[in-house]
Amino acid sequence: MPKIGNIELPDFPLLLAPMEDVSDPPFRALCKEQGADVVYTEFISSEGLIRDAAKSVIKLDIYEKERPVGIQIFGAELDSMLQAVDIVEKSNPDIIDINFGCPVKKVVSKNAGAGILRDIPLMVKLTEEMVKRTHLPVTVKTRLGWDSDSIKIVEVAERLQDVGIEAIAIHGRTRVQMYKGEANWKPIAEVKNNQRMHIPVFGNGDVDTPEAAMRMRDEYGLDGAMIGRASIGNPWFFKEVKHYFKMGTHLAPPTMEERVEAARRHLQMAIDWKGEKLGVFETRRHYTNYFKGIPHFKEYRMKMVTSDDSSDVFAAFDEVLEKFGDFQFV
Ligand SMILES: Cc1cc2nc3c(=O)[nH]c(=O)nc-3n(C[C@H](O)[C@H](O)[C@H](O)COP(=O)(O)O)c2cc1C
Repeated sequence: MPKIGNIELPDFPLLLAPMEDVSDPPFRALCKEQGADVVYTEFISSEGLIRDAAKSVIKLDIYEKERPVGIQIFGAELDSMLQAVDIVEKSNPDIIDINFGCPVKKVVSKNAGAGILRDIPLMVKLTEEMVKRTHLPVTVKTRLGWDSDSIKIVEVAERLQDVGIEAIAIHGRTRVQMYKGEANWKPIAEVKNNQRMHIPVFGNGDVDTPEAAMRMRDEYGLDGAMIGRASIGNPWFFKEVKHYFKMGTHLAPPTMEERVEAARRHLQMAIDWKGEKLGVFETRRHYTNYFKGIPHFKEYRMKMVTSDDSSDVFAAFDEVLEKFGDFQFV
């Protein structure tokens, strides 16, 4: 069974990917309840943390019920990253994850995220010093390389392992690819097949069906799957994959009652965490996916995403259950 440091995981664990504005405490809690074995925060700026920027600091909030949880940070300045490690430790996560994969320009231009794939010695040095700084297990999330001509992930992963990381998650795209094309899991399998690798190697990118997760396990031999987009508005995805692995059959899609209950709990947890105003506002982006595919739903969706008062949103959920309670999802 794979382990991250002393954290014991089940066979072929499913990890909730770090996703900006998505992987917040309420969403992580819902995914955890539905079978995610490890959850990660969205990426947090090391520079923001050391300036004590409220926007960054609130992202450190974690809850007991989520564990094991990793806090992900990004940056390219050694001193800032080390100070950020000290700050992150105070939140007592189970794991500190380093983001070496974010492709967006404003991050990459500062050599952070996937930008560091152009400077492997710096990547290794930062990682080594961060590992030395903390008693917590450090993991890395990265991409295959900067571009298709510079895929050195087998060597990179081994060097990161040698400076002490406890697991690596690899998104099967290069920085240049951004999110385009299909994720290529072959180089990730090559990392896993390197005889010198002994830490878990998790695959990431396009695991959007239980069958895909199974291929990642059986054909590519990876130690677990990190799941991002397939879970947005669909925390049940983790349960579906686990059911498929165990039974070889597909679970029926969640009923309307389950969806309404998830939406209700999501909203309530968001309000408990950030207060009424922000809770109502930030949960809006999730409803479209919870209630996808229902005909003549616009009126209700509009109520959910335009009401500023949580009681109106909760009332809209009640109406939806009453009106569409028997709707059969496919
Ligand atoms: C909305 C969104 C936000 C993301 N934010 C982060 C992030 O904060 N940190 C990170 O390492 N990756 C981030 N990613 C990348 C995902 O973690 C993941 O690597 C990518 O979506 C591929 O996996 P998937 O095909 O399962 O979605 C983000 C992706 C999306 C769609």
